[in-house]
Amino acid sequence: MPKTISFHSFRRGTGKSNIIANIASLLANEGMRVGVIDTDLQSPSSHILYNLEAKNTKETWTDFLRNKAPIEKVFYDVTPIEKELGKGKIFLAPANIEIKSILSTLREGFEIERIGQGIINITKILNLDILLIDTYAGLKAEAITPIALSDMLFIVMRLDKQDYQGTSFVIQIGQQLGIKNISLILNDVPPAHNISEISSQIKNKYDCEVTSILPHSPKMLNFASQGIFVNQYPKTPLTNAYRKISKAIIQKTENDQI
Ligand SMILES: Nc1ncnc2c1ncn2[C@@H]1O[C@H](COP(=O)(O)OP(=O)(O)OP(=O)(O)O)[C@@H](O)[C@H]1O
Ligand SMILES: [Mg+2]
Repeated sequence: MPKTISFHSFRRGTGKSNIIANIASLLANEGMRVGVIDTDLQSPSSHILYNLEAKNTKETWTDFLRNKAPIEKVFYDVTPIEKELGKGKIFLAPANIEIKSILSTLREGFEIERIGQGIINITKILNLDILLIDTYAGLKAEAITPIALSDMLFIVMRLDKQDYQGTSFVIQIGQQLGIKNISLILNDVPPAHNISEISSQIKNKYDCEVTSILPHSPKMLNFASQGIFVNQYPKTPLTNAYRKISKAIIQKTENDQI
């Protein structure tokens, strides 16, 4: 059975989209067929990381939700051609970046049930091993619905007081939705911090597993979402920390824990 994994955060800008794009690459390197959905309809970003242009992605996840496109038309094969991944593949469903579409979606909304229909159908059509969902930050229904349909939830936070309380809200919501696998990713941690100390502090504070602590990376900051970091920088501490997440996913999938 394919596994659906959501990446969420209470506040914006915690690093979700970059984490997902990099994890998708690492999983595809291991031969997995990976789907990615950009559910951030208000400020789409995943297409940028894959250098997809709007003119080449006429039909999007937004259009599927608004009943304007069939699900099989809104996923694009973004597997890097220069890489010999064998069976590994990445399929991205971008959100619509046209301002007209964004505004009319905000104004008119969509049927929330379409999210579940889309997820179930596309995993079968594309024969996916894993589906990664880039959620909209915060607690709106359009963010919580994909989480409710997930086998696993990663909550991404930074060491910022403003993230602390919100993160515990998201953990509680995940628990109330009955998601068994909830795990934290701490991103953008400055070098002065003691990683293992922080990990145990956070684990105790939230009573929640910490899968990986991603260091602040000046290289990532300079890279500025121009592509997939792990492909460009295969040997940095940040890449190693991303690898920890993909390994945890593979391990849990193999042991049928998700
Ligand atoms: N470990 C890191 N070190 C340095 N910069 C980082 C790190 N992780 C992410 N960033 C930077 O933080 C910014 C936000 O990242 P990203 O867009 O992935 O966050 P997001 O959670 O998807 O945001 P949003 O909630 O707006 O969708 C980007 O400029 C990215 O390059
Ligand atoms: Mg994002």
